Amino acid sequence: MRVLVVTERGLDTDEVRASLAAPGLEIETSVGIDTSSVGGDHDLLAIACSGYSDELSTLVERSLRHDPGRPVVILSWSSTTGFLRSLLAEGASEILTMPGDAARVPEVFARLVERAKGLTATTPLIAVIGSKGGTGKTLTAANLAVALAQGKEGKRVAVVDADLQFGDIGITLGLAPDRTIYDLVRTGGRVDAEKLKGFMMHHHSGVDALLAPLRPEQANAISAEWMQEVYRLLRQSYDYVVIDTCPGFPPEVITAIDASSHLCVVGEMSASGLKDTRLGLETLEKMGYDKSCIHLILNRVDNSVGLTQEHVAAVLGRQPDLMIPSDKAVTRSSNLGEPIVLQGGLRQPEAARAFQRLAAWFRASRTEAVQKPGLLGRVPTSHPTTSYGKATS
Ligand SMILES: Nc1ncnc2c1ncn2[C@@H]1O[C@H](COP(=O)(O)OP(=O)(O)OP(=O)(O)O)[C@@H](O)[C@H]1O
Ligand SMILES: [Mg+2]
Repeated sequence: MRVLVVTERGLDTDEVRASLAAPGLEIETSVGIDTSSVGGDHDLLAIACSGYSDELSTLVERSLRHDPGRPVVILSWSSTTGFLRSLLAEGASEILTMPGDAARVPEVFARLVERAKGLTATTPLIAVIGSKGGTGKTLTAANLAVALAQGKEGKRVAVVDADLQFGDIGITLGLAPDRTIYDLVRTGGRVDAEKLKGFMMHHHSGVDALLAPLRPEQANAISAEWMQEVYRLLRQSYDYVVIDTCPGFPPEVITAIDASSHLCVVGEMSASGLKDTRLGLETLEKMGYDKSCIHLILNRVDNSVGLTQEHVAAVLGRQPDLMIPSDKAVTRSSNLGEPIVLQGGLRQPEAARAFQRLAAWFRASRTEAVQKPGLLGRVPTSHPTTSYGKATS
């Protein structure tokens, strides 16, 4: 692994170099946070510093502009890292306190570089989110996943139920919860692709589903870091990953948003539903999420509820990308565990056709990304790690 180390003037460069000596690390050094070039094709940039400075923030920004996928690690030779934490929000991947954390360097560098490779894969990771409960997130996640798997090319599709307390992707797909994400976390140790595969439930449409825990309290066993690792592994094994989430922006939804290349924001056609969806879109804007990677879905569209298209666009500040009609056939399909997109023929309900169009859009965007690498959509980010409850046992 090729690592560029930029060292702040005044720090002992020999000591910095010595603390990074490990087999497999090829170190190139440069002195001066304000003057060093961050160009080049190194796998990782490490910045050795004695504390926060504006130059440090500029260097992180310059590095990410040069290569958004290259991890940036801050090596702090100060015992207090409080101010440095703001660099995580600016795109730095990790802060290590030196020399105490020197032993962790090889493992942290290897993990970040491996992760960066996974994130540049062309697998879209689509998180389905919504401000409120019952808007149609699970309906969308299930039908999008099935529609993607039904394509002629026979793509590998995974759906993850990240509604860790009350997830019902299993019910919507008609799958028995023989194995869940909780059973996987309970195996302990590191999760790898092989192990993960063994806990995916296979649906007859071709979709593999990682189901939510059976009981709400089991969600406490799952941490944000662990979920990030699961998403990374799935992106390496599948052509599409779809994540169903719970309402609002709790930590598990933020983790899914951070890991995603695209979002489907599902809102409901009602006065309060539109207001909540607008607030959700504003929250995503504050988080710096790339607008062009957000698909806005308006569900339960019904011309008789007193709201016009003009009203909808005025409240949301944009037109929805997709509209799903209110239809009893939709409710029936969820209750019976038979995704509506599987209802074919001439009398295919409009809701099914709408989900097919959504899948077609993602298929086209994936093809474009494969042909022109870099067009996948948004580069996933990572916010400071959050834990959903107790540490993973
Ligand atoms: N367009 C629609 N027409 C009729 N029924 C619908 C429609 N959209 C959703 N439903 C029904 O509403 C119920 C809630 O939908 P769904 O479970 O997808 O919402 P959700 O956003 O995932 O809810 P939660 O936040 O509680 O997980 C389901 O029974 C579903 O079939
Ligand atoms: Mg749901």
